[in-house]
Amino acid sequence: FLGGSWYLSPLRQMCYLNVGACDLFLQSDLNSFLWTIKRDPPSYFYGTIHQAFQESNIVYFELDLTDPYTISALTSCQLLPQGENLQDVLPRDIYRRLKRHLEYVKLMMPSWMTPDQRGKGLYADYLFNAIAGNWERKRPVWVMLMVNSLTEADIKTRGVPVLDLYLAQEAERMRKRTGAVEKVEEQCHPLNGLNFSQVIFALNQTLLQQESLRVPNFNNVTLPPSEQVTAQEIDSYFRQELIYKRNERMGKRVKALLEEHPDKSFFFAFGAGQCS
Ligand SMILES: *[C@@H]1O[C@H](CO)[C@@H](O)[C@H](O)[C@H]1NC(C)=O
Ligand SMILES: *[C@@H]1O[C@H](CO)[C@@H](O)[C@H](O)[C@H]1NC(C)=O
Ligand SMILES: *[C@@H]1O[C@H](CO)[C@@H](O)[C@H](O)[C@H]1NC(C)=O
Repeated sequence: FLGGSWYLSPLRQMCYLNVGACDLFLQSDLNSFLWTIKRDPPSYFYGTIHQAFQESNIVYFELDLTDPYTISALTSCQLLPQGENLQDVLPRDIYRRLKRHLEYVKLMMPSWMTPDQRGKGLYADYLFNAIAGNWERKRPVWVMLMVNSLTEADIKTRGVPVLDLYLAQEAERMRKRTGAVEKVEEQCHPLNGLNFSQVIFALNQTLLQQESLRVPNFNNVTLPPSEQVTAQEIDSYFRQELIYKRNERMGKRVKALLEEHPDKSFFFAFGAGQCS
């Protein structure tokens, strides 16, 4: 799994779209992020504080990463239908620019990585393949998110994304009850629901933005008013689907669990290791 695709939770995707506050968590001490739900016994949100984890009876994740179905569904929801290729679906200009941009990223990646990352055994080739491998088979919206995540700043803050998985294994080892509050489909469908012209627009803008970073001062993109409207529509779609609706859905499920088991202590590990 780790060598294959990097699953991007919607929160993380918001980071890539620059509409969420992300830097905070990525660079901070994991232990400083723990929320306690004040009830008796208390329940905890987030974090790696081992004691809190140990003392909880039930551990809930966003998704059940120990279920092989979850992993395969996550992978396949990002892919184009069987037999289709990005080259077949993207406008020729976009495809060509995408390909050139990824070649550039691959070339630059070794110089973007920090000594600390190398010390942890994270290599540029591995990272590039983990993020961008199989890109020609991905749906345009996922490629757009991927391109957003392939910047120098983002690469520098990448760790080995194992926290969710580590906690899941620990929970299993300690024979805790585990569960998940979301289904892959719930995380996947909103993204795949953006219509084709909106996705092409967003991908084009993403590429323009990255291209302008590649050649500083070359073109400072300002959108004409009609395109600003499109950009805003896409932005509010993402906010609505990926943040508000999802927060509400997950919040309701957390509340229901707490009410259903008033005597149990829960540990909720949502988006752990991703962003705040
Ligand atoms: C996509 O959505 C936009 C905005 O809602 C709409 O104007 C456009 O006609 C849609 N395009 C397609 C191909 O459905
Ligand atoms: C990409 O965006 C630019 C600037 O907004 C526009 O001129 C160009 O036609 C777009 N390309 C495609 C393929 O949509
Ligand atoms: C690009 O535009 C932004 C916003 O108008 C401005 O703050 C920035 O300085 C410009 N960058 C360059 C390189 O001209």
